[in-house]
Amino acid sequence: MWPLEVLSLTLLGLASSGSCLPHHYTRALTPRGIITNNGDIADKYDFVIVGGGQAGLVLASRLTEDASTTVLVIEAGDSGDAIRSDLDTPAFAYYKSKLGSSYDYGYKTVAQSKLNNRAISWPRGKLLGGSSAINGMYLVRPSQVEVDAWSGLIAEDDSSAASAWSWSSLHEAMQKSEVFTPPSDEIKNLGGIRYDASKYGTSGPLHHSYPGHTFSQYADWHTTFENLGVPANGDAFSGNNWGVYIAQSTINPQNWTRSYSRSAYIDPLPPRSNLAILVNATVTRLVFADGSSGNLTATGVEFATDRDATKRTVSVGKEVILAGGAIGSPQVLMLSGIGPKDVLESAGVKVLSELPGVGQHLQDHLSTGVNFKTNVETAGGIFSEGSSLAKTPEFLSFVNSATAYVNLSTLLGGDDAAAAYRKTVADAMESSTSLVPSQNQEVLAGYKAISDVVANKLLPSSIGQAEFLLSMHAAGQIGVQAALQHPLSHGRLYINSASAFDAPTIDPNYLAHSADLTIMREGLKMARKIAQTAPLNKAVGDEISPGPSVQTDAEWDEWLVNQISTEFHCSSTCSMLPRNKGGVVNAKLQVYGTANVRVADSSIFPFTFSAHLMAPTYGVAEQAASIIRGFYNAAPPSNSNSSPSGSSSSSQPNQTNQPKNAAVSGHVASWTSWTLLSSFLLALLAL
Ligand SMILES: Cc1cc2nc3c(=O)[nH]c(=O)nc-3n(C[C@H](O)[C@H](O)[C@H](O)COP(=O)(O)OP(=O)(O)OC[C@H]3O[C@@H](n4cnc5c(N)ncnc54)[C@H](O)[C@@H]3O)c2cc1C
Ligand SMILES: *[C@@H]1O[C@H](CO)[C@@H](O)[C@H](O)[C@H]1NC(C)=O
Ligand SMILES: *[C@@H]1O[C@H](CO)[C@@H](O)[C@H](O)[C@H]1NC(C)=O
Ligand SMILES: *[C@@H]1O[C@H](CO)[C@@H](O)[C@H](O)[C@H]1NC(C)=O
Ligand SMILES: *[C@@H]1O[C@H](CO)[C@@H](O)[C@H](O)[C@H]1NC(C)=O
Ligand SMILES: *[C@@H]1O[C@H](CO)[C@@H](O)[C@H](O)[C@H]1NC(C)=O
Repeated sequence: MWPLEVLSLTLLGLASSGSCLPHHYTRALTPRGIITNNGDIADKYDFVIVGGGQAGLVLASRLTEDASTTVLVIEAGDSGDAIRSDLDTPAFAYYKSKLGSSYDYGYKTVAQSKLNNRAISWPRGKLLGGSSAINGMYLVRPSQVEVDAWSGLIAEDDSSAASAWSWSSLHEAMQKSEVFTPPSDEIKNLGGIRYDASKYGTSGPLHHSYPGHTFSQYADWHTTFENLGVPANGDAFSGNNWGVYIAQSTINPQNWTRSYSRSAYIDPLPPRSNLAILVNATVTRLVFADGSSGNLTATGVEFATDRDATKRTVSVGKEVILAGGAIGSPQVLMLSGIGPKDVLESAGVKVLSELPGVGQHLQDHLSTGVNFKTNVETAGGIFSEGSSLAKTPEFLSFVNSATAYVNLSTLLGGDDAAAAYRKTVADAMESSTSLVPSQNQEVLAGYKAISDVVANKLLPSSIGQAEFLLSMHAAGQIGVQAALQHPLSHGRLYINSASAFDAPTIDPNYLAHSADLTIMREGLKMARKIAQTAPLNKAVGDEISPGPSVQTDAEWDEWLVNQISTEFHCSSTCSMLPRNKGGVVNAKLQVYGTANVRVADSSIFPFTFSAHLMAPTYGVAEQAASIIRGFYNAAPPSNSNSSPSGSSSSSQPNQTNQPKNAAVSGHVASWTSWTLLSSFLLALLAL
């Protein structure tokens, strides 16, 4: 993540070529033939993926490696082509941030009573690549204890399927997504970078490396933590992610560009006639077969360009895969009649399947920082001076990545303090269920199961309970940020209307559990101590905020409730948990009560990790693709219209055929000229 205060919003550049393009949907230039307008899609696909975000594009790419499988992705946002160079330039995540633009949903939480009634901004990417197109590029893997605990929660239902979510399986899935490039010796030495390249993927599509510019404060960051008793971690990627290190970033060092789900998984594809990606199209609901009894069978996906537009439906041959993210996926389920009964009834949506866990168990990382004046050069300073260095691709690839995860005893100042804290949490376990926004018994049982994991597996381990990040992005300032990693406060989100164009109500219920306040406060105290410890203290001048007037616990608490904000890591709203624990999906990612709907994105983690969520989300998407491909290869449905060995012609998209719907036939002429124009441009590029 990065501090919101240093993000500068810039207006967007030119829109992508073409007044000749159709009014509602237009075709993006790259890649050839895949990103499309709705005049050009077939009536039916084997798989329809809801959301072309981080996870959705991974699934689309992997499922269509099988040439006989047809896939349509429906993405609410734009292609991003018009702002592509801003997205591609890593440092522009800060200096030309898309937060607050039309490429960001710009959600807000409801007023948070424990945060002095502040409503917190919740950005989410609304474009191809989703949040991976606009995020901070930290690539941090979770730890083995966490991932095995997740798999353990679902193993009681299906121990064989649960093995897909053990550390060793998820680790392999994360590796499958990646290709690592080592830093130069100069960067490695200046930044004190340590890693074990044998633990990284070598042939995946997602590039990860280190920026082409760094600062000596990065090496000092290591030594400072070591001086505070926190060991340096030379191999944070193999299941023990705690300690201090320079995290990797999703950067392609061949040309210092952002690597994200679109650039990694879609752009390099040759023409692929079995894949279509529709942009600027919001899924309004899933359509189920009439008279479904027991399991609901999705037969189609309904979508529209905007609130007032005519809705269209595309047919589904095999499955719908929801990849709308932690907000979009539960929202679409609820709009489709799957969710908590009271929520659906008051929103005016007919209940097709009561599933109380949808939108529940919402968790997030809270964060803020302690900021200091500095006389050393910072990235923000170099950028604002606009020197020749500031314009180099190497410098413009610099994003913050100095990281540390600190365990409970170090954070609280000793094993006795940690034991006392754990006892407080355990003693309050029964009564803390009163803090959960839903009093549904299944949701409460899930809350207990998750808190039990936190209290008995995560708090006693070496896993970080607070994360620390070094911020070098403001001119003349240096900051140390602290973030809560395993919140015991769970919130929820729910729809208020039957329209996909109305934002859901988001209530993270921040700091409802007082233990979260303790971690936040102790984390911030430690952030100050880190900045005051040698050798980092050489770079640190007067404290700007909170400043020397904040010293006692009460003063910290009063200050922090007005400061803390999201680290942009919401999760768990379609949790993989047993159904009787408020679960939404089983170990095969199938939504309870449906025959052919899965969720595969950051909403399925039953609890959040001591890590940023992009790496595990790539792991989920890769694993989902393996599970789905394995399922259809192993057990081809005999009566399906589109068998695995070759889809029926009606489900075969045809990149050159004419629109089938008369209502959009007016687009044909412009589509044809666009095809000619893009072939021409491609020919030029090939020169
Ligand atoms: C500002 C910011 C900074 C972050 N920094 C980092 C970081 O540095 N490192 C890290 O690991 N993580 C970071 N994260 C978190 C990480 O990016 C996300 O957790 C992750 O990308 C989520 O992936 P996803 O596939 O679940 O959802 P997304 O990538 O958000 O994709 C969901 C997609 O579904 C689409 N969609 C939703 N509803 C509909 C609908 N009804 N119809 C059609 N389409 C729909 C959306 O438009 C979107 O494209 C950051 C997040 C943000 C927002
Ligand atoms: C998507 O919609 C926006 C807003 O209407 C428009 O500016 C953009 O050109 C559209 N994108 C495509 C690829 O059609
Ligand atoms: C960066 O390099 C990759 C190949 O590694 C290429 O596919 C991509 O198009 C390049 N991006 C830009 C903006 O040049
Ligand atoms: C917490 O970290 C410190 C410093 O590395 C270490 O000495 C201690 O054993 C750790 N505690 C646990 C429970 O692992
Ligand atoms: C319902 O569908 C799920 C897959 O989502 C399947 O595992 C289950 O057996 C089905 N149940 C019935 C009663 O058909
Ligand atoms: C694709 O469209 C072309 C031109 O309309 C047509 O000749 C061909 O049969 C179509 N192919 C499929 C698989 O529908």
